[in-house]
Amino acid sequence: MTRVTNLVVKNAHGAKFWTVDDVEYIDFVSGVAVNALGHTHPEVVKAIQDQASSLIHLGLNYGYYESVVNLAEKLAEITPGDLDTVFFSNSGAEAIDGAIKLARAATGRPALIAFEGSFHGRTIGATTLTASSAKYKKHYEPLMGGVYHIPYPYALQLGKGMSEQEAAAYSLDRLQKLFELQVDPAQVAAIIIEPFMGEGGYVPAPAAFLHQLRRITEKHGILLVFDEVQTGFGRTGKMFAAEHAEVTPDILVLAKALSAGMPLGAIVANRELHEKWPVAGHGSTFGGNPISCAAALASIHVIEREQLVERSAALGNQIVERLKQEIGHLTSVAQIRGTGLMIGVEFQDENGNPGTKLVAAIREEALKNKLLVTSCGVYGQTIRLMLPLNIAEEDLDKGLTILETAIVKAATV
Ligand SMILES: Cc1ncc(COP(=O)(O)O)c(C=O)c1O
Repeated sequence: MTRVTNLVVKNAHGAKFWTVDDVEYIDFVSGVAVNALGHTHPEVVKAIQDQASSLIHLGLNYGYYESVVNLAEKLAEITPGDLDTVFFSNSGAEAIDGAIKLARAATGRPALIAFEGSFHGRTIGATTLTASSAKYKKHYEPLMGGVYHIPYPYALQLGKGMSEQEAAAYSLDRLQKLFELQVDPAQVAAIIIEPFMGEGGYVPAPAAFLHQLRRITEKHGILLVFDEVQTGFGRTGKMFAAEHAEVTPDILVLAKALSAGMPLGAIVANRELHEKWPVAGHGSTFGGNPISCAAALASIHVIEREQLVERSAALGNQIVERLKQEIGHLTSVAQIRGTGLMIGVEFQDENGNPGTKLVAAIREEALKNKLLVTSCGVYGQTIRLMLPLNIAEEDLDKGLTILETAIVKAATV
């Protein structure tokens, strides 16, 4: 694994954690976009404790339990369109692999299309779909067959001065070329996309592009899969990023913030599609374990009650405005972008190339000043903020001040 820090952490609460030697840090990583309610939210802790004292594990093959049924019903209620049926697994990558199996089994087709820059996880299936860094695939070839990649509509990286519309048109043109030159669309089971690219750079896919993908997939009987492992549960200022474009995928993959730090993944589709997945075609010993489901229910309950999705949208705008004011003038800042609390600051060097070294220096300086913040982008050129949706104003202000100071320092060295 990549070791980002050597901190030994003792406890954590809200947007802060403390090391074993009692040093306090502000946490702008949130367990990599997992802790939507911050660390150790009391209602999540209580739900875990209560569930643990009544049922820890039985196995979904052998019976239903309340927490899993209630969570499936809740997900059916809050996910877009007709998505109403859930298969539970333990992680994002595992859920992605399940979605691949579902797509292949339901369509009887072999091929899959994913996007350059995308990240879907570390299992062999998810690693094959991933294309955010060659290092994730090195040593593991040959990976799964039948997988093709086309460019993500990421204007800033596709070409200097390219507009969002041009990037979307280019990406769709490459899809058309792929159909003509490499794989007949009738052979394609699914197109898998992060509607808002996470690890690859915190870049939203334009709504019009997602509409076109929906139209093309429908025309060819291809399933559209949205990987919302990182974007789900309010991160982008909507409960799900799919809502920005008002596009309902055939399969929605969830994990991370779903269950407030407990391991859980979900493959959500409509019942008709799920029923095309043959019995015994998939399974999991731990998937949908009662404690993770109880934590998820508590977390969704708090997100709804405290209107944290709306807060994410409003607070995100304020933060982007503040960052533009404080650091927007620096020539090394290529772009400050954000939708809700999915905020990225992309850096460039003096030649306009990705500002990889700058970002590393900013992270190091921030950590020295007791702020944990991380990066994304295929060249590590973007600082990404993954704040709890309920972050206290005071912690937010303190963390942003440390970050802005670190950016100004690194940019003026
Ligand atoms: C968009 C996306 N999909 C899938 C995954 C994999 O999830 P996990 O680490 O839970 O396997 C991640 C993890 O970062 C992710 O960001």
